[in-house]
Amino acid sequence: MIDLRSDTVTKPTPAMRRAMAVAEVGDDVYGEDPTVNRLQDRAAEVFGKEAAIFVPTGSMGNQIAVKLHTKPGDEVIVEERGHIFNWEMGTPAIVSGVMIRTVRAANPTGMLTWPEIEGALHINQAYYACPTGLICLENTHNFGGGSVMSAAETDDICRHAHALGLPVHMDGARIFNSAGAQDETVENLSKACDSVQFCLSKGLGAPVGSMLVGSKEFIAEARVWRKRFGGGMRQAGILAAAGLIALEESPKRLHEDHANARRLAEGVAEIRGMSIDPESIRTNIVIFDVSGTGKSSADICASLKADDIHAIPFGPAIRMVTHCDVSREDIEATLVALSGIVRNG
Ligand SMILES: Cc1ncc(COP(=O)(O)O)c(C=O)c1O
Repeated sequence: MIDLRSDTVTKPTPAMRRAMAVAEVGDDVYGEDPTVNRLQDRAAEVFGKEAAIFVPTGSMGNQIAVKLHTKPGDEVIVEERGHIFNWEMGTPAIVSGVMIRTVRAANPTGMLTWPEIEGALHINQAYYACPTGLICLENTHNFGGGSVMSAAETDDICRHAHALGLPVHMDGARIFNSAGAQDETVENLSKACDSVQFCLSKGLGAPVGSMLVGSKEFIAEARVWRKRFGGGMRQAGILAAAGLIALEESPKRLHEDHANARRLAEGVAEIRGMSIDPESIRTNIVIFDVSGTGKSSADICASLKADDIHAIPFGPAIRMVTHCDVSREDIEATLVALSGIVRNG
């Protein structure tokens, strides 16, 4: 099986399984799990922030941040293709009582600029306007094709936002991919943001878990909301043990996933009717348009499935994501299968 649907499908490595088996544990709701505490301390250190909290999912990390940064009736700025708007099931409305104001980035990467954000703000306007309470950035941008935002671009947005008293949250589900692609540190990429969520269970390969990072005060409040969300886990050190390996070891190999994604895009670009600019591939996500093939993306994915190759159709496009359980041979086999599907009409 070649599973390119997402980087969430990875299985824990043998080292992770060994660490899980021998993990020192305690009751994390009492703050007594030494392995969770170690993971949290280490995540805070790596991001150069005061504190961090282990949460079951990226969605929970993002939604706790939305809750803590806003009050009911606020608007939250999210890029139109952003995860918080499209794939978190309306939770900002349900849990935080806020509205999402989407902004479409002019750049196909999905990366917003300050002028684009500024045009959508409601600050000090008439009392009957819906006030902006938070700006969310996504780095890498999933549906922008794994695109990256630089430290300078992030700093610029944060500087303007903070001057207006607006907090900035970064959905950094794949921020380690972004850092690897830019030869940057995750600390530099997010230091100006008030909070960052990153996933251990995507490109970093852990079976479960995400981290929310921020100030001591913010993370203390996040602990309350994690419990309210039902995310107060007990002997979670079993999971944190894998998370620690993901945090320390996995970033070192992400360049392999990025090279595989680039090779995939180069091969796809040569197939009649499929279009993608391989130069646009910076990390591990490849989204390519197949409308020129005369087949639908769903039909192509169904044909791939017959070869036990799995990808996700989105409108006229297909998304493929590389990760630690996908080899270069898998990429070549996928390209052969795709060419065959198009050639055989
Ligand atoms: C950019 C981004 N943010 C957040 C999430 C949510 O993570 P989880 O699936 O752990 O809730 C995802 C998941 O794919 C994502 O791609």
